[in-house]
Amino acid sequence: MSSADIQIVGVVGLGTMGAGIAEVFAKAGLTVIGIEIDDAALERGRGHLESSVGRAVKRGRMTEEERDALLARVTLGTDRGALAEADLVVEAVPERLDLKRDVFTDLDRVSRPGVVLATNTSSLSVTEIAALTSRPERVVGMHFFNPAPVMRLVEVVGTVLTEPEVTAAVAALAERIGKTPVTVGDRAGFVANALLVPYLNHAVRLYETGIATRDDIDTTMTAGAGLPMGPLTLLDLVGLDVALAIMDVLWEEFRDPRYAAAPLLRRMVTAGLLGRKTGRGFYTYPAQPAAAGEVPAARAALPGRVAVIGDDTAVLSTACRATGVDVYVPAEVESAEVDPERVDAELLACDLVITEWPPGLEPVAGDARKVVGMRVSEDRLVEVVTSAVTAPGVLAHARALAARVGPPVVVGRTDFLLETLLSVHLADAVRMVQDGYATPADIDTAMRLGCGYPSGPVQLLDEIGLEDVCGALSLLHTRHAESCYAPPALLTELVAVGADGLSDVVPGR
Ligand SMILES: NC(=O)c1ccc[n+]([C@@H]2O[C@H](COP(=O)([O-])OP(=O)(O)OC[C@H]3O[C@@H](n4cnc5c(N)ncnc54)[C@H](O)[C@@H]3O)[C@@H](O)[C@H]2O)c1
Repeated sequence: MSSADIQIVGVVGLGTMGAGIAEVFAKAGLTVIGIEIDDAALERGRGHLESSVGRAVKRGRMTEEERDALLARVTLGTDRGALAEADLVVEAVPERLDLKRDVFTDLDRVSRPGVVLATNTSSLSVTEIAALTSRPERVVGMHFFNPAPVMRLVEVVGTVLTEPEVTAAVAALAERIGKTPVTVGDRAGFVANALLVPYLNHAVRLYETGIATRDDIDTTMTAGAGLPMGPLTLLDLVGLDVALAIMDVLWEEFRDPRYAAAPLLRRMVTAGLLGRKTGRGFYTYPAQPAAAGEVPAARAALPGRVAVIGDDTAVLSTACRATGVDVYVPAEVESAEVDPERVDAELLACDLVITEWPPGLEPVAGDARKVVGMRVSEDRLVEVVTSAVTAPGVLAHARALAARVGPPVVVGRTDFLLETLLSVHLADAVRMVQDGYATPADIDTAMRLGCGYPSGPVQLLDEIGLEDVCGALSLLHTRHAESCYAPPALLTELVAVGADGLSDVVPGR
């Protein structure tokens, strides 16, 4: 079969996703049969579709004639028997296996022999859904992203039973309707959710363990990594219940502690704090005005003298000097010695975390309370890291200094936030290549077009450098002994052979 064999498409369930999917097919000139559960739901579905195309006309993206022609290609009803003439049926009913079972058993009964049956499931097993039919070889996942008319990614999921020509025809059809397909096998989370959701979960863990505030976690990823939205804001948008369901499916599939849902995520779902849709998640909707009365960090006192220590003292000392403070860069000393100039400093700022301070420069003579980590990432972000014993007054000095440097300031405990959040995320992308599940190019396509990333994780990894990411992971793993920080074997191998990037991996190996 080929994609040209698909002219009539059925869509079952016209909610958030189904109405958008119906619009996408009709816009591309295909005939669409939309099916809902009852008349009330059908009218809601019709409303979603009509208001979406209405908005497109208002914004000048579609003429009134095009809208009328599009709507004329769509027939809506509640009788699944109408799907008998469909060449492809896409199921988009709620994410519950019992509902999907009901729909697929029926589709199997009413559909013609050559039909392709597709599910838009985000987290259920396509294989399990296919097994509900007498024709698993013609069942695929066709995973659209929200909002379907806008997001260009479609993950086409073939099971071990799907005929390759069926998967290929559906991928070609995705292209025909203006989408970019990424074809993968049936594995929990597919590409985009398997990478995105554990990263969001990791952000929740950092928040719930007091490593950083909600706003600082979000700022780290927007300002520091250039992502369109911080992880906690994104969780509120996706829905905490949806994210939790995906974490649980990943856990069931892999049983790796890095896929254990953060306790706070589970509690918030239990409490009904699901994000935007319930008016409250990590944030409250509509947004609450910021609490008044806080002293802006920039107005707090600057330290008189800062001792700058670290791997790259030039960057940090230049940034600190530009604020007008007195900067001293200590030389290494024997551990017992005391450097009187250093003792004078009110703040010891190092671009490494305290446990990794360079030998000969470790905190001595009780000055550990004056210690912070500080990193300036170009003109994007300034990070301050406290240790377990940093004095509150010292943190206030550090904040004041960081605020004068210029870019947004975030404060974390124990680890540099950007490195922590990003390296775990990038490591997961490497593992996905290592597992042979997706190619580096498909991973970047999925994250750019499905999650709105400006550049994909593989490109980001290659830009930062394999060695730097691997080094950061090794240190994080030494400190925390958690599996999410373990450098993937493929990353270690690529560093050992001096590869330029993950994109160097020969396809098929
Ligand atoms: N919302 C998202 O961001 C998103 C993104 C990608 C995939 N998905 C997946 O898409 C599917 C649908 O999600 P949604 O967010 O659109 O849900 P939704 O609740 O907005 O819509 C589901 C629709 O299905 C209808 N329905 C229920 N039972 C039915 C039946 N037996 N026959 C016909 N229609 C029936 C409901 O009336 C409702 O309109 C789920 O599998 C979900 O995992 C959702």
